[in-house]
Amino acid sequence: MRSLSILSLLFGVALAIPNPVPPHPMITQAPQLDSRDFLEDLDHKVHSIVNSLGSTVSGFIASGVPQFFQSLPIGEEAVVSMVSSVVGSVANIVDIITNDTKPTQVLNLPAYGNWTKAQKWNVFVHGNVYKLPGIPSVILEGMADMFLIAETKFKDLKTGQQQQAKNMTASILVIQEKNVTVTMEFNQAAGTQTLTLPGFTTVQGDFGEWVSLENITTSTGYLLPGNATNKIQTLEMHATGTDTGNATAYLVPPQGFTIISDIDDVLREARIWDFNQGVLNSFANTFGPWMNMPEIYAHWASAIPDAHFHYLTTTPEQVTRNYMEFVFAHYPPGSFDSRPLRYQDVDAVLSARKFLLDRIFETFPQRKFILVGDVSNTDIMKAYPQLAKEHPGSVQCILLRNTSSADASFKFPYDTSGFSGLETKQYMFFRTPDDLKGLNFANGECVNRAVPQNVTFGVQGVSGGVAVFRSGMWAMTAAVLATVLAMWY
Ligand SMILES: *[C@@H]1O[C@H](CO)[C@@H](O)[C@H](O)[C@H]1NC(C)=O
Ligand SMILES: *[C@@H]1O[C@H](CO)[C@@H](O)[C@H](O)[C@H]1NC(C)=O
Ligand SMILES: *[C@@H]1O[C@H](CO)[C@@H](O)[C@H](O)[C@H]1NC(C)=O
Ligand SMILES: *[C@@H]1O[C@H](CO)[C@@H](O)[C@H](O)[C@H]1NC(C)=O
Ligand SMILES: *[C@@H]1O[C@H](CO)[C@@H](O)[C@H](O)[C@H]1NC(C)=O
Ligand SMILES: *[C@@H]1O[C@H](CO)[C@@H](O)[C@H](O)[C@H]1NC(C)=O
Ligand SMILES: *[C@@H]1O[C@H](CO)[C@@H](O)[C@H](O)[C@H]1NC(C)=O
Ligand SMILES: *[C@@H]1O[C@H](CO)[C@@H](O)[C@H](O)[C@H]1NC(C)=O
Ligand SMILES: *[C@@H]1O[C@H](CO)[C@@H](O)[C@H](O)[C@H]1NC(C)=O
Repeated sequence: MRSLSILSLLFGVALAIPNPVPPHPMITQAPQLDSRDFLEDLDHKVHSIVNSLGSTVSGFIASGVPQFFQSLPIGEEAVVSMVSSVVGSVANIVDIITNDTKPTQVLNLPAYGNWTKAQKWNVFVHGNVYKLPGIPSVILEGMADMFLIAETKFKDLKTGQQQQAKNMTASILVIQEKNVTVTMEFNQAAGTQTLTLPGFTTVQGDFGEWVSLENITTSTGYLLPGNATNKIQTLEMHATGTDTGNATAYLVPPQGFTIISDIDDVLREARIWDFNQGVLNSFANTFGPWMNMPEIYAHWASAIPDAHFHYLTTTPEQVTRNYMEFVFAHYPPGSFDSRPLRYQDVDAVLSARKFLLDRIFETFPQRKFILVGDVSNTDIMKAYPQLAKEHPGSVQCILLRNTSSADASFKFPYDTSGFSGLETKQYMFFRTPDDLKGLNFANGECVNRAVPQNVTFGVQGVSGGVAVFRSGMWAMTAAVLATVLAMWY
């Protein structure tokens, strides 16, 4: 019975992709399957995966919700219990972990601000307050295996990969600080203003508030009003009481171009559809750019000097530092969003991307957006065309990497039905970064005529649904888990 329900839940996840605009993707009815052998074989494979995930994480399947990456531990109790589950119940485990806790850190994400009706710059300040517990190195190594759910174990990794795996593990096993206030200093040439955010951090340590900046005027300078410039003005922000919360605030004028970019498999090589590789690329390998994409972005930044770059990933907040470090080493500076911890319920987890996109669209109703992503993200395939329909005139171009065109191992079905009804000149499926070369989207040009566009609206990459399941159980199971990963990315 239990295994059956696990199966139906898994299929619920897998088949949610083909189903256009399902009301609740995670509780879609299980399909009727006709082959017992197929079921048993799959059941067996799923069980071995579930077992390899370990009891603490198998809940994501049992509950039918892809919680693996959503239910990363939050708070001291959770960290202690997670560590105990790996090292056994050591009497002084709390001491070991908490005695050596490092000072408070603030993750402060690069922010954007808009010019308001009240003739002020308002900035959305967001991030997380937490401490790193003193988890001994040897325990971290043991814990790394839990996150490294690929076939490779920590001990088999190369030294550099081990470092990265330990860093990721340590980043996840942090203790968030609830109900504290955050004070931010904004430095501009003319002087500093210090603003204490009106609220307290959430139970998960998150903060996210709009603050209104004063226009400090001295002989050395002042802020330009949003209606008097096309240029983006930047201010350095600094969370007081720590050296870990420095970031840039981008004051973005009401009009101009904003490039909103996903990160995994567009800016960085992740290969999430290839399960083992995806896990290794996310937890063990240092992040590397996807082909010559940095060149394309550098070109955009110089061709459109006033462009605003916004990086929007649904990767969990805990590993945002690694993403930011990677992005800012290879791509133009810009504001940043990752999946906030406070959205823990199913709907919000599933719609995190749309939630973050809605906020930036609402903040800049007159700007033109260029949306960049890849077809392996179910939520992108839904949200990008949806935004183009909800905000006519706001979406300049949708540029999607067709991940299947260059990679035979891509077995991940994707759904293009959301694009039905959009003008074909508004979007392009591209194969390599070079396909984007020479596009002048400021002039409304979103399509490179040299790139074949063969778009039919509906599910791609599976013919007749069941056929692909038969073609390889493992690939199918991997696709289910990749779906889980895709929720994360
Ligand atoms: C933790 O700190 C307490 C109080 O300072 C001390 O008694 C205890 O021995 C420490 N435990 C460990 C494991 O270091
Ligand atoms: C992990 O690496 C990132 C990027 O290099 C760094 O900012 C962060 O502090 C590291 N985290 C830990 C827990 O060591
Ligand atoms: C949060 O902190 C404030 C002041 O520090 C206190 O008044 C309030 O009761 C706290 N709220 C909760 C839910 O702990
Ligand atoms: C700030 O003040 C200066 C002069 O004092 C003024 O020219 C400028 O428009 C003001 N900027 C904003 C954002 O209000
Ligand atoms: C900006 O808007 C304010 C308020 O409507 C107006 O007084 C001012 O002249 C405008 N500035 C420019 C450069 O258009
Ligand atoms: C953060 O900003 C503060 C204030 O400008 C500065 O003193 C400090 O050195 C900065 N820290 C880092 C790590 O850059
Ligand atoms: C500025 O952003 C806020 C928050 O998204 C939004 O409610 C407001 O309408 C924006 N202001 C303008 C003038 O667009
Ligand atoms: C993606 O690439 C594959 C393989 O080249 C092709 O069959 C498919 O039509 C492309 N999809 C889109 C939406 O362009
Ligand atoms: C276009 O796509 C359809 C359906 O996805 C496929 O049957 C056909 O072979 C493709 N044509 C080309 C030229 O790729």
